[in-house]
Amino acid sequence: QPLQAIRSAFLDFTDDPFYTAESDSVRYISDGLLIVENGIITDFGEYNTLRSQYAHIPITTYPDRLIMPGFIDTHVHYSQYEMIAAYGEQLLEWLSKYVFPTERKFKDKAHAEKIATLFFDELIKQGTTTALVFATVHPESVDAFFEEASRRNLRMISGKVLMDRNAPDYITDTPETAYEDSKKLIQKWHKNGRLLYAVTPRFAPTSTPEQLHTVAKLLQEFPDIYLQTHISENKKEVAWVAELFPESQGYLDVYDRAGLVGEKSIFAHGIHLTDAEFERLSNAKSAIAFCPTSNLFLGSGLFKLTQAKSSQHPVKVGFGTDVGAGTSFSILHTAHEAYKVAQLQGESLSAFKALYLATLGGAKALSLEDKIGNFNPGKEADFIVLDPKATTLMATRNQSFPAQSLEELAQPLFGLMMLGDDRAIQAVYIAGKLAHSLAAI
Ligand code: GUN
Ligand code: FE
Repeated sequence: QPLQAIRSAFLDFTDDPFYTAESDSVRYISDGLLIVENGIITDFGEYNTLRSQYAHIPITTYPDRLIMPGFIDTHVHYSQYEMIAAYGEQLLEWLSKYVFPTERKFKDKAHAEKIATLFFDELIKQGTTTALVFATVHPESVDAFFEEASRRNLRMISGKVLMDRNAPDYITDTPETAYEDSKKLIQKWHKNGRLLYAVTPRFAPTSTPEQLHTVAKLLQEFPDIYLQTHISENKKEVAWVAELFPESQGYLDVYDRAGLVGEKSIFAHGIHLTDAEFERLSNAKSAIAFCPTSNLFLGSGLFKLTQAKSSQHPVKVGFGTDVGAGTSFSILHTAHEAYKVAQLQGESLSAFKALYLATLGGAKALSLEDKIGNFNPGKEADFIVLDPKATTLMATRNQSFPAQSLEELAQPLFGLMMLGDDRAIQAVYIAGKLAHSLAAI
């Protein structure tokens, strides 16, 4: 089907509702038409305005549904799929006890392929169409990931984990192999179709200064690749980094001195960042992945979303599930937990703001706002069909859907965010192709 037309209610964002009034940043079209040609959005607007222009194309209609851009997960570990919900520990003990032994298995390419398939099945069924993903230290794990992403024509970013100390021998590399292996993988996968590469030092404690230096070298040689890592997630971790890097001014400074803090750097967590560190991230145009289900599960702390989204020093923020520390692949669950994290700090996160973070906000965090994140013509046609009345409970709670206006939508949309999960993800389109559907309509 080179030319497609989809009719339904649509919700997306043309601006950031944290800084611009919702009436000017949220776009809700209660009866809209989306035109897709060869996987790219070519037109979008009111059905009544566009209908005559596209009278010759068969229309797929989703009545009583809400279509949104595909969700974006800015931080997740595909290798941790099988160890989600590991009992009883906080970050550092959890890593040694559960994560490292699990990641060890990815030396075996067949295992990596099996988990990659399960991971993408789950991601798509949850409505996530783009993610920034940690593989493991093994180059095989990156190949398995990108091969499967490529088969599904997904826009995905990933990279080989780099770690050359403070971890078991079976899961470490060296500055030299980190450099050589990453370089080969970048040449093979970066900009291969919709795939992009992120250099991935795990976090400061598991890389020597020499290894961080090789990361900087890669970023200089390949200026448009990404950098992803973890930062200031847990208090013991922050104290350990201060011991390991006594010459640094703080956690972010370890990465900054190495030359790793830039526009395409995405830092997961940032729970214990100082005011000066938020300001530095803002000036550098770096992004933070806010991972509420993980931060609550590991007892790491409450992310200061309001500070990150301040007008004075705005930092780009996206949602991350951070599975296996995160407890769900669902971005709706993630938004639900983000709401609670805000409430614990005396703040409220509206459904519009949360769903902005899940879509256009995530796209901006990944510097992909020219490719994905909303329905502007020219964007890639990754979108999801949501059912705000997916269950009896939701149907009762969300009686006021379908909504005629943005004001009327706020209430059922919040109900969807708080009660929704994969049962509410009716269908998922990847580059214009139906990739998942719960039931024929
Ligand atoms: N910090 C270093 N590695 C990890 C990891 O795998 N998960 C989380 N949540 N934090 C980390
Ligand atoms: Fe993580």
